[in-house]
Amino acid sequence: SNPQTAANGPSGAPILPDAAREPHEPAIIRRKDYEPFAWRVPEIRLDFDLGLETTRVEATLKVTPNPDAEAAPEIRLDGDGLVLESVAVDGEQRTDWRREGEALIVPLSPGEHVLNVATRIAPSANTQLMGLYASNGMLCTQCEAEGFRRITFFPDRPDVLSVYTVRMEADAGAFPVLLSNGNPVEQGTLEDGRHFAEWHDPWPKPSYLFALVAGDLVARTDRFTTCGGREVELGVWVRSEDLPRTSHAMESLKRSMKWDEETFGREYDLDRFNIVAVGDFNMGAMENKGLNIFNTKYVLADEETATDDDFDAVEGVIGHEYFHNWSGNRVTCRDWFQLSLKEGFTVLRDQLFSQDLHGAAIKRIGDVRVLRAVQFPEDSGPFAHPIRPDSYKEISNFYTATVYNKGAEVIRMMRELAGEAAFRKASDLYFERHDGEAATCEDFVRSMEDGAGLDLAQFRRWYEQAGTPKVTVEQAYAGDAITLTLRQSVPATPGQPDKQPVPIPLKVALFDRESGAHSGETLIVLDKAEQSFTFDGHTSAPILSINRGFTAPVVIEREISRDDLVFLAGNDDDSFARHEAMQELLLAYLLGDENEDAREAIGTAAEAILADDALDHEMRAELLSLPPFAYLAERSEVYDPGAMVVRREGLKTWLGERFADRFASLHDTLEAPAREAGPVGKQARRMRSLALGYVAAADPAKGAPRALAQYREAQGMTERQGALAVLAGLDGPEREEALADFYTRFADNALVIDKWFTLQATALREDVLGEIEQLAQHPSFTMSNPNRVRALYAVMAGNPLAFHDASGAGYRMIADLILELNLKNPQLAARFVPSLGRYRRVEPGRAALMRAELERIAEAGELSRDVSEQVSASLG
Ligand code: PHE
Ligand code: ZN
Repeated sequence: SNPQTAANGPSGAPILPDAAREPHEPAIIRRKDYEPFAWRVPEIRLDFDLGLETTRVEATLKVTPNPDAEAAPEIRLDGDGLVLESVAVDGEQRTDWRREGEALIVPLSPGEHVLNVATRIAPSANTQLMGLYASNGMLCTQCEAEGFRRITFFPDRPDVLSVYTVRMEADAGAFPVLLSNGNPVEQGTLEDGRHFAEWHDPWPKPSYLFALVAGDLVARTDRFTTCGGREVELGVWVRSEDLPRTSHAMESLKRSMKWDEETFGREYDLDRFNIVAVGDFNMGAMENKGLNIFNTKYVLADEETATDDDFDAVEGVIGHEYFHNWSGNRVTCRDWFQLSLKEGFTVLRDQLFSQDLHGAAIKRIGDVRVLRAVQFPEDSGPFAHPIRPDSYKEISNFYTATVYNKGAEVIRMMRELAGEAAFRKASDLYFERHDGEAATCEDFVRSMEDGAGLDLAQFRRWYEQAGTPKVTVEQAYAGDAITLTLRQSVPATPGQPDKQPVPIPLKVALFDRESGAHSGETLIVLDKAEQSFTFDGHTSAPILSINRGFTAPVVIEREISRDDLVFLAGNDDDSFARHEAMQELLLAYLLGDENEDAREAIGTAAEAILADDALDHEMRAELLSLPPFAYLAERSEVYDPGAMVVRREGLKTWLGERFADRFASLHDTLEAPAREAGPVGKQARRMRSLALGYVAAADPAKGAPRALAQYREAQGMTERQGALAVLAGLDGPEREEALADFYTRFADNALVIDKWFTLQATALREDVLGEIEQLAQHPSFTMSNPNRVRALYAVMAGNPLAFHDASGAGYRMIADLILELNLKNPQLAARFVPSLGRYRRVEPGRAALMRAELERIAEAGELSRDVSEQVSASLG
């Protein structure tokens, strides 16, 4: 319950605590019930008197009837946890307002009005990290999706767009920097050591894009001149000790701005672009107009403290948030069911950005790996939903891999169908048609049709249906022709028992057995339940390479001989397909019956990959990496986690033994290249640490000293973490020395201490669960910082030996965590539910224990909407 609300109610009626006010079963919001809001709010002015304990907010709203909606005799303003001080309309204090739950309803006559609402909030007490909250002594906001209502009463929905003017007043010592959206207008000093700043954002925006930051921050600054000649001042704001780690973020920002001009024709539209790094943040980052707020994890990077992957993640997220300026801010969402309109498109844009900068092959393999390890399980589990959901109880639960990553795949398919040039024309049309609007996924699809000349009538099913389509492939060779018979099925998902076929674009190539080459790629589109495609001119049965580049987010099941897979794993000229062939060999062994021949085929393919001088070391390492545990689990009907770990680790040992000399010599010879700058160094580091892992898997006594040497001589975090990841899984003095050194060396760097927790929680050690229990008691562990919680527990939930400990203690640990965070930080709490929710796929003994923990949560009483929705979906 929230004591702040007790002050409310002009009639003196007591306000019930949250638990009583919130109906036990949260209400279901449905997409089909969308109605435009009765009023427009063309302008809003916000006056903040900022303080950590108490902040006072005066909001001045200009409101006019919405001509596109039915007229209403009152205006309904959302609120959440606000202390209401006063309401005035057109300069007159009013007492005829009423509260409905947390909402404030004010009677209004037709016509234009000025509404004044004064409220108080308590940032320090805000543990949900939604609305205005305190982090390391600074104040910052997070408003997406429904956080603005925790700052002031407002129609907190994305289809109400306003021009914002924001004035902030605060103690100048504690909060020397005052930032908000748009351009700075005025600043000055006040009495009693206070000061103020005023900002104005000329672009109308929904409330979820509002932001302010107040704190003791310093900036790395730079400039960017846009293609249209606008001079933009750029700032990356951090605490002073972090300033040396901001250059990569700044360079990434400039690259993003340039790339969006060149690739999508999108120019920046304000005089300022600021990024602020915040240590306590529920997500990765937020695209607030002109004032992006970031998790420190996606801003700070230098070679000493960040790995190559961290550098790439910073660049990718900076790009993502910057690209939202057009795909999200200039064109926003009509309602939250349209979330994939901005997120799917923006993920695709950030993926293409990274592909262009660093090469498409590795990026595509990595993106597909994430899709399969995270989104596929979501799509086959109890929380499966279409990329455009039909209903929700708590929208925060829908910031999912489905909306983001599958959403990106769906738009990528349209791009594949259209071709690059036509896709660009269509995206230009979309931006032109909907600039300044709150749009829908349907608007996007129509722009794709009109701009690219596509007919997407059937394609719209990708927006409607949940579940990962499965495609089976049969081949028949006769005369000189090969016929592919493809069948698709979209599995039933909760609430969607019957599915219709979707158009599935598949890039294929047919390799000639004699020459080892193919005569070009073809894009075929499977849009029926069953369809045959014939290719002639083949004097012998060719080898099929299908879904090249992963043109469609589907599961392919094909009959193909082991020899043909070995051929493709060694020779396919499409890097993704080559990698895929290797993965198919690995899956066949890891998920099939224990089979010498299957394992031997893996050895033959690995031999060719190790010997292929045309490969760079990063691709070589990709090809030699085992599929993630989560994907193995996903591809099994029902699995035994313990047995699966044994099988996977066993294969690693076998490969390590078989190529012991090769891996040891790679580890030796790549030492110098690993210290080189640029891509060569990155590629070498990747292969070198993988080789180290294989050496250790085959012979821990050889691996440990090698790893310790790599650790000690490491010239940056990539080498250091690579060594420590191997050591963390071993026993002995080398492990203890390196872990202790790592902790003391980086004790004052929160992001690196996160790594220290993660490395230990990832280890596949017998008593890893007990070790994680100990880590939770470590003085550096805290439940108040989401990064720290994830560094230990999200990682633990993905460690099969810890989470799936046969005793059920791992499940209990996660359930306890969910209950502890339930009200403190509901968004973070809810993220842990799906790991328990996958019980149907686990062997029956463990499944019963997992379900029992979900039931324990369900019966625990006052559940947040976030946790409640996830738990009831999981229990089905
Ligand atoms: N819109 C943010 C992004 O993807 C994600 C986010 C959602 C951040 C909700 C905070 C809260 O880019
Ligand atoms: Zn986004």
